[in-house]
Amino acid sequence: MCAAKASKNKTEKRSDKDGRKAPDKAKKRADGKSVAASPKPDGSRYIVVGNLKGGSGKSTVVFNLAVWLAAQGHAIRLVDLDPQKTLSDLVAVRAEIGWEPLLDTPAASPDLPAAPPDTWTLVDVGAADMAGMLEAVGVADLVLVPVMPGQADIWATQRYLRTIDRERPDHCAIRLFVNRADPGDASRETREAVVALEAIAGMLGSVSVLPARLGRRIAFCRSLSEGSAVFELEPKSKASEEFQALAQAIVEPRRGRNRKS
Ligand SMILES: Nc1ncnc2c1ncn2[C@@H]1O[C@H](COP(=O)(O)OP(=O)(O)OP(=O)(O)O)[C@@H](O)[C@H]1O
Ligand SMILES: [Mg+2]
Repeated sequence: MCAAKASKNKTEKRSDKDGRKAPDKAKKRADGKSVAASPKPDGSRYIVVGNLKGGSGKSTVVFNLAVWLAAQGHAIRLVDLDPQKTLSDLVAVRAEIGWEPLLDTPAASPDLPAAPPDTWTLVDVGAADMAGMLEAVGVADLVLVPVMPGQADIWATQRYLRTIDRERPDHCAIRLFVNRADPGDASRETREAVVALEAIAGMLGSVSVLPARLGRRIAFCRSLSEGSAVFELEPKSKASEEFQALAQAIVEPRRGRNRKS
């Protein structure tokens, strides 16, 4: 496999579609008040899990994180902006099987009423709904970006981050992490992906790479097919261990890098 690298010079040709600014309403709640972008003191969070690249693990991460947070007693709101509706299907399968805690059916719009205290809003969005993605990014406290090792994935991530950077001149926190890494840290592709992501993070403000990563493991596939989180299915597995380390890093974030002035 070719080495994965960040591109400093790669020309960014943006279509009108992906360059479109979010509608003004993205910055406002229904009552016209501005939606705070930074983590709220009341414990509520608005997290967008996104990437332009398909199959990077967005739905898998949103679903597992939702179950993990709900199991810890947090109130969860899910938003599914993907026309494939993978997250919505997952929630339905979970309800059919009867796994507790149950999750509420995801909303189809990012434009929600202000969240009650200690409520975590998780948004699953890819490239199919760019307007929705920008709207969600416009009010996010955190954008979480799963990235598979691979050159095309690195380029897509770089492009996505530039889009977010334009959308959020106030620099909301952005965290990248490697998903579907080859099992074993010594994999050349994974190491190169991390180096490339670190380079990208260094070019933009408020972006950092989480040390936690998810390996390419069958438990994550089973999680989707069975409507249950990896730590429910196989509590002692490596997948469970990796996911919980990732969730901890999201819930108890270390201070992110500040934008260079
Ligand atoms: N760490 C992992 N190990 C193994 N398989 C994984 C892992 N993460 C995700 N997958 C699998 O990869 C596929 C894509 O994952 P998922 O649907 O979560 O990606 P996505 O980014 O939401 O895709 P899309 O862009 O199509 O919405 C699924 O079959 C899922 O089970
Ligand atoms: Mg998906």
